[in-house]
Amino acid sequence: MPDSRETLTIKAFVTGYPVKHSRSPLIHGHWLRQFKIDGSYEAVAIEPASLPDFMNGLRSGTNGFVGGNVTIPHKESAYRLADRPDDLAQELGAVNTLWLEDGQIHATNTDGFGFLANLDAYHKGWDRTDKAVIFGAGGASRAVVQALRNRGVREINVLNRTVSKAQELRDRFGSNIFAHSVAALGEVSAGAGLFVNTTSLGMDGSEAPFIDFSKLASGAVVTDIVYVPLKTPILKMAEEQGFSTVDGLGMLLHQARPGFEKWFGKKPDVDEELRSLIIADMDVHA
Ligand code: ATR
Repeated sequence: MPDSRETLTIKAFVTGYPVKHSRSPLIHGHWLRQFKIDGSYEAVAIEPASLPDFMNGLRSGTNGFVGGNVTIPHKESAYRLADRPDDLAQELGAVNTLWLEDGQIHATNTDGFGFLANLDAYHKGWDRTDKAVIFGAGGASRAVVQALRNRGVREINVLNRTVSKAQELRDRFGSNIFAHSVAALGEVSAGAGLFVNTTSLGMDGSEAPFIDFSKLASGAVVTDIVYVPLKTPILKMAEEQGFSTVDGLGMLLHQARPGFEKWFGKKPDVDEELRSLIIADMDVHA
């Protein structure tokens, strides 16, 4: 006789290539235990060429998943392969969360939600500012720019080493976005209430150039989407210059919430226990 518990287990996944580094199984595993849900969340490495087959298996139900997360390098391809990307995903052209509904693959991107929820949790009132400075114009920057515009920040200045990529963001997200070279920092940061690093500078112990935050509004907050190390060189510089900071770990934790709710039917919270669990893992797998 088949084990009836096995047939009831709700299965979700994270896929990337490679995917070993993903901390999503730790996050969802914590919530599954917290809610005592008979479910699983597993990392599945899929080569880019095999993603269409994997998505077909998801759609037909043959791989047994109700949905999952996609990470690098699949975010754009999964967007193209999904049947029902939502409005956010269509504007971004990239997704990180998939779920099955009526035989169709629905898709969204929760990175922007995670970014805002992290700031809301650690620096309530940050969104009273009219002006933000975003350093970097890569994939992560897109979701941040979209989220800030949707929250109503009126002037979003994107600085990037390759200015044409900042201009692409302006073309994509509209007239509240202004593209600049990195050299414009002093000028464009005047009076800004939020500075966001979305570049990889400072990640995993790498160096970051000195950034002068002195023109930011007093009371401005500086945040970094890099979370390894937790206190990045850019956050350290901001602190030394007297600004409040918010680290990037919360963005990772909060972006996971909508997916968990879709697949497992419960609204999870980000608590200190979860944060500590991930920090402990960062200490082991730096
Ligand atoms: P992600 O998806 O994490 O955003 P990405 O798309 O590769 O990654 O983008 C990396 C960002 O970091 C880009 O804005 C990149 O600048 P370029 O567009 O000019 O490449 C920025 N970046 C990476 N290394 C950098 C460096 N040494 N100096 C300045 N910017 C850097």
